[in-house]
Amino acid sequence: MHKILVKEELVPNMHLVKFSAPAIANKAKPGQFIIITIDEKGERIPLTIADWDQTEGSITIVFMEVGTTTQRFALFNAGDSIDSLVGPLGIPAHIEKVGTVVCVGGCYGIAAMMPIARAMKEAGNKVISVIEARSKYLLFWEDELKRVSDQLIVTTGDGSYAPQGWIPDQLKQIFEGGEKADLIFAIGCTYMMKLASETSKPFGIKTIVHLNSIMVDGTGMCGCCRVSVGGETKFACVDGPEFDGHQVDWDVLLSRQRSYHDEEILSLQEWESRNWRGTR
Ligand SMILES: Cc1cc2nc3c(=O)[nH]c(=O)nc-3n(C[C@H](O)[C@H](O)[C@H](O)COP(=O)(O)OP(=O)(O)OC[C@H]3O[C@@H](n4cnc5c(N)ncnc54)[C@H](O)[C@@H]3O)c2cc1C
Ligand code: FES
Repeated sequence: MHKILVKEELVPNMHLVKFSAPAIANKAKPGQFIIITIDEKGERIPLTIADWDQTEGSITIVFMEVGTTTQRFALFNAGDSIDSLVGPLGIPAHIEKVGTVVCVGGCYGIAAMMPIARAMKEAGNKVISVIEARSKYLLFWEDELKRVSDQLIVTTGDGSYAPQGWIPDQLKQIFEGGEKADLIFAIGCTYMMKLASETSKPFGIKTIVHLNSIMVDGTGMCGCCRVSVGGETKFACVDGPEFDGHQVDWDVLLSRQRSYHDEEILSLQEWESRNWRGTR
């Protein structure tokens, strides 16, 4: 059992959870993830480690409510415990001094990007962070990212917090404005990472994306998370989650992510019908 030390709704449907997990806090590296099971009948879901504190023995994740498990998890509170927590998993981000690094984050990726931006800054890079949200009220961790970035660019889809637009618009402006970016990291929804990769390709800027394929064991055993990168089959859990965004077959990834779409809707309907009082 892993105890929840802090639980906070950062913005609607986006939650921060700090767990007691000393062993994982001692080993965590930027870009790695955990797999949790919220109770004995729960499914395994992967979440990126957004922060950790070795002294406190804690790790922090930020998750978005999308389906049954994340909606049930949102009903947990500080003091509750979850059934299991495995990690750190995945190959850590490759941190080195390359020059100027653009760190791109959307939805949960704003938090997931944080350790990478911080480590790239500590390695001596100029860090430009670019984050997006549909609207101002969905933005979070702006100050946190400012602290680890030389420049923070925020963009909102509805223009409620200028400038109006999405990450690809901002990337184009950065590159066309003459900024010589050496590397891009992108974490967040698949479509955003695909568009960020397509935007950077003509400029020849290496773009590392964090693939969020469906995972079960997270240790290379089940094959569920397979993706196609550069024409080769890779397992996102053990070969990634970092991959070259210009080599990823995005259509395969997007279609595999929808594999259980009907079952996910049924599961949510079933849970909602049985839990009308909002109990998990
Ligand atoms: C390496 C990695 C890191 C991730 N980090 C974060 C994070 O930090 N914060 C966050 O909010 N989300 C993160 N995700 C996505 C998160 O795992 C899914 O949103 C979650 O599993 C959805 O579960 P659900 O039951 O609520 O939704 P469901 O209704 O079951 O599924 C909704 C969609 O989520 C995806 N999904 C469902 N089950 C899984 C699964 N077992 N593994 C991966 N994707 C799944 C599918 O594309 C599906 O269509 C990450 C995914 C991966 C692979
Ligand atoms: S999740 Fe099973 S092989 Fe990657």
